[in-house]
Amino acid sequence: MIEQFKGKTALITGGMGFIGSNLAIRLAELGCQVTVLDAMIPDYGGNEFNLAEKSDKIRVNFCDIRDASAVDYLVRGQDYVFHLAGQVCHLMSLSNPFPDIEMNITGTAIIMEALRKHNPEAICVYTGTRGQYGSSVSLPVNEEAPTNPKGIYEISNLTAEKIIKVYNDVHGIRSVLLRLSNIYGPRSQMMHSRFGVANWFVRLVMDNEQIQLFGDGSILRDFCYVDDCVDAILRTATTEECYGEIFNVGSDIPVSFLQLVEAMVKVAKQGSYKFTEFSAERKAQEPGDFYSDISKIERMTGWRPAVDLETGIAKTIEFYAKHRDHYWTKPSKAPAAAAPDKSTATARC
Ligand SMILES: NC(=O)c1ccc[n+]([C@@H]2O[C@H](COP(=O)([O-])OP(=O)(O)OC[C@H]3O[C@@H](n4cnc5c(N)ncnc54)[C@H](O)[C@@H]3O)[C@@H](O)[C@H]2O)c1
Repeated sequence: MIEQFKGKTALITGGMGFIGSNLAIRLAELGCQVTVLDAMIPDYGGNEFNLAEKSDKIRVNFCDIRDASAVDYLVRGQDYVFHLAGQVCHLMSLSNPFPDIEMNITGTAIIMEALRKHNPEAICVYTGTRGQYGSSVSLPVNEEAPTNPKGIYEISNLTAEKIIKVYNDVHGIRSVLLRLSNIYGPRSQMMHSRFGVANWFVRLVMDNEQIQLFGDGSILRDFCYVDDCVDAILRTATTEECYGEIFNVGSDIPVSFLQLVEAMVKVAKQGSYKFTEFSAERKAQEPGDFYSDISKIERMTGWRPAVDLETGIAKTIEFYAKHRDHYWTKPSKAPAAAAPDKSTATARC
């Protein structure tokens, strides 16, 4: 895989964000010429510091995927297009559906049209969400499971996936369709708790604040360290049999929220938690236990997560301890009403 990216070109939409920046750095290390496209949408994960260590190697273009003429220009000559930009917040999608429709659906169509017209030879990878499944019918969840999304964010991801599949099947634009589970690790936004629950808990533990766990904390998820996620993206991009296919990217080792928090407290040697009742609204949105069946991607690419939970947490804490000032400021002694929401319920929890 390493050799396959040397001397190649890649465009990463959303490349200033959490997963996109980790992907950009890895590709640059592999000798790929990387261009990042990002609109730095407020409250999302875009952060210029994310690419600081490779700023001399990565070209950045601050524009929006909805700007068709910019996208038309940027896709030209790219061997790979990794499409990660979009509205990323489940909660926001429930109060305003239009950013999802405009960014995730129209934005994706703009990218695929640009590829069809200007670079049909490129290979495209799309990062959708495990939320496309909605509540699990049986566990672990494989790619054949029914899709019953519980939010507009998830519907828009599913729609984007189907749009890309049509361009793969009808227009021959080789594409990989990933459904990511809960990804955590360095370079995530740490400003608020509306999405990225595992990283938000890392912040609370590092600030020695108490985490509130809904119910008895027994709801199951599969957490995947961002380096493993990047590895899955690169492996599927370079495996011909993967084109046109959907893959779960997560972990087949389920972990409860309680186990997650206990592991964080153990690794950080600080932090605490308490149990709290679900609000009616949180309860209605909660899809219940979820963990991925990853046997398809393992069978077709050999990929398996390599970083266990405690190691991933330790690496994450190490990164933010070093670079905290670029991600959040220390909690002030502000009144409780102004304190950040410390609940578990987020878009992707
Ligand atoms: N992080 C996870 O756990 C997770 C789980 C499932 C799916 N995903 C998906 O993976 C992708 C990347 O997620 P992330 O966690 O890195 O999010 P992120 O918010 O850290 O990064 C997204 C980036 O996209 C940019 N962006 C958003 N809309 C844009 C637009 N219209 N034009 C140009 N740039 C735009 C943002 O400015 C941001 O830098 C998203 O599509 C997300 O839905 C992530």
